[in-house]
Amino acid sequence: MGIQYFEDERVFWLNTKNTSYILALVDEEPFVGHVYYGKKLSDYHVRHLMRLEEGPFIPSKNNRDRAAFGDAFPFEYSTHGVGDFRESCLKVQTQNGHEACSLIYQSHNIFAGKPALCGLPATFGSEAECTTLELTCLDPVLNLEVVLVYSVFEDVDALTRSVRITNRAENSIVLKKALSACLQLDGIDYEYITLHGSWARERHIDRRALTHGKHSISSLRGESGHQDNPFIAVMTPGTTQEAGEVYAMNFVYSGNFLAQAEGCQFDTTRIVMGIHPENFSWTLEKGEQFICPEVVMVYSDAGLGKMTRTFHDLYRSHLIRGEYRDKKRPILINNWEATYFNFNTEKLLSIAEEASKLGIEMLVMDDGWFGHREDDNTSLGDWTVNEDKLSGGLKALVDGVNALGMKFGIWFEPEMISPDSDLYRKHPDWAIQIPDRLASRCRNQYVLDISRKEVRDCIYEQIKTVLSSANIEYVKWDMNRPLTDLGSFAYPAGRQGELSHRYMLGVYEMQERLINDFPHLLLENCSGGGGRFDAGMLYYSPQIWCSDDTDAIERLSIQEGTSIVYPLCSMGAHVSDCPNHTVGRTTPFQTRGEVALAGTFGYELDVTRIPQQDRDMIPAQVAMYHKYNDLVRTGDYYRLASYSENHAYDCTEVAAKDGSEALVTYVEVIRRANFKTRRIRLRGLDPNAVYENEETKVRYTGDVLMYAGVQAPETWGDFTSKLMHFVRV
Ligand code: GLA
Repeated sequence: MGIQYFEDERVFWLNTKNTSYILALVDEEPFVGHVYYGKKLSDYHVRHLMRLEEGPFIPSKNNRDRAAFGDAFPFEYSTHGVGDFRESCLKVQTQNGHEACSLIYQSHNIFAGKPALCGLPATFGSEAECTTLELTCLDPVLNLEVVLVYSVFEDVDALTRSVRITNRAENSIVLKKALSACLQLDGIDYEYITLHGSWARERHIDRRALTHGKHSISSLRGESGHQDNPFIAVMTPGTTQEAGEVYAMNFVYSGNFLAQAEGCQFDTTRIVMGIHPENFSWTLEKGEQFICPEVVMVYSDAGLGKMTRTFHDLYRSHLIRGEYRDKKRPILINNWEATYFNFNTEKLLSIAEEASKLGIEMLVMDDGWFGHREDDNTSLGDWTVNEDKLSGGLKALVDGVNALGMKFGIWFEPEMISPDSDLYRKHPDWAIQIPDRLASRCRNQYVLDISRKEVRDCIYEQIKTVLSSANIEYVKWDMNRPLTDLGSFAYPAGRQGELSHRYMLGVYEMQERLINDFPHLLLENCSGGGGRFDAGMLYYSPQIWCSDDTDAIERLSIQEGTSIVYPLCSMGAHVSDCPNHTVGRTTPFQTRGEVALAGTFGYELDVTRIPQQDRDMIPAQVAMYHKYNDLVRTGDYYRLASYSENHAYDCTEVAAKDGSEALVTYVEVIRRANFKTRRIRLRGLDPNAVYENEETKVRYTGDVLMYAGVQAPETWGDFTSKLMHFVRV
């Protein structure tokens, strides 16, 4: 059993294969305290770590210093207003305007399996795979019930948390803040990493020292955002890929978030994660419940690499759903960078025809096929086919593509509305905006109030009609602007603070409907590139477009940061034309292919117009994808060298879980003059087995490859790359 309660110590002991997480109840006045998270312990007698013997003493014995107790006690779920001045997770407002809250233990329930989170994305597992603890607490003054929910995935070494808050009082109460998780660590001598970026340079790894005070990242954009990803890892100083302790949190949510590490006065650290309290308030009437989205927690005693592999294993088996989860995805060619808005049936068929000859398996028609959209100023919301462009209609095009032996995919931006659209002319109040205030446009569009059912139904029915009209096997769901001017015409006074979260619930509901109605559809999420690359979206789509920046060298850093949490099989990665449309850089076609191989793999170019020598390389790249994709999708990922750290070269490895093969990708970004080759040490092999380098036929024992290493291949010129495939003999 992964979770046990011991009455003698009043301790909850949560175990996975290699980690323990322990909480305990204070005697007499049973506050819930955090005791320990880390390497697995063999004994649960550790409640002394709560420092209850040190003054100020337990309030029930000595109310004189209740506030000072609150100031230091390691609360498992912190509340606002009664003496804990560190970051709170829960803050309310009563009808009298009071904001204080304090929780004491009531009861608990431990059971096999893991219940779904109603309306929210969440990890899942069978009764054999996970165990859940529901710990019910109460504020007896407010009659507010707070259930702390923990699930352990024993074999995967991961833990999830969420919170259910129920109003058991007669009067309504407002939640001003309801975070999902809090973790107390001893000491403040840590470093932490987050994933920072912007459009076209998403998720670059940021590493800083923790000090006293609050260190936070967040989004208030209504989406997880390009700027900060809902991920934070606090770790011992000097942590590397291989060594050091790491405490990581990742939010299974796609909207506003706060992730924060706080160095506190007594040299402890508090890490919190949840929906950002700004732009948030939620009224609970009598008997109503609020569910805080899930946080995944991973502890690694062996550096960032082990943390990464734990997230990958969890997400590949217990978050991503659908038939493509465990399947090779079709190699697609997307027409965005090939044509932008300037295409018609003939053009698309000419791309498909050439692509099919080269082995590409699916054509994706991007933005510009609907309404009268010739540029990005119009028609969002009018999801009817523009037959001036697609002469003969959509079905004729799809049939034409299918006749070439290719699948067909299509782009939508369901959450948006153009001021120049029939939909806006009919329903101007469906756009999110504030009466009497000039609403801010972005890309000349507004955001639809997806929190409203009639809006969702209208858009969804249009999408469904299009998808049912032809053999469409893939959808790219885009979202190209943040939420601003937060106002819904549908909400009563005092409820506007619910919009951002209700919006997210609406998006989730639509995507759930889509994948249920079209179970064979491959869904790819996207948001101006990688602005909504998060674990919430992965619950609905097995892959997400990583970035609009397709330059192979920029992608090294973007894919490094993304893959620190999210599995390679989820990273949308394409080979595009050069000079690259974002940075103007020219890189070899081979490098573009080998970098994209670390993701879902596809093309984003006009295959009828690229240089012949590049076109000639496509069949071999297609074969390379088919050869390696099972390994890339399912294997263990190791970062051997990071270009964003060394500014010279990049090296990654994917090793089969059974140690039977490994693929190494080496990219020489800047060629050095008069140097010897670099030495690469592999990971994840069987030290006693013999491996053969498939190309050179040279044989090595696993221990030689891992401990002594091999020389990286010589390449000539900047931006060059090379694969090395080692196969167990
Ligand atoms: C976003 C996406 C692109 C493309 C355009 C179309 O920027 O990230 O891939 O689909 O929208 O407008």
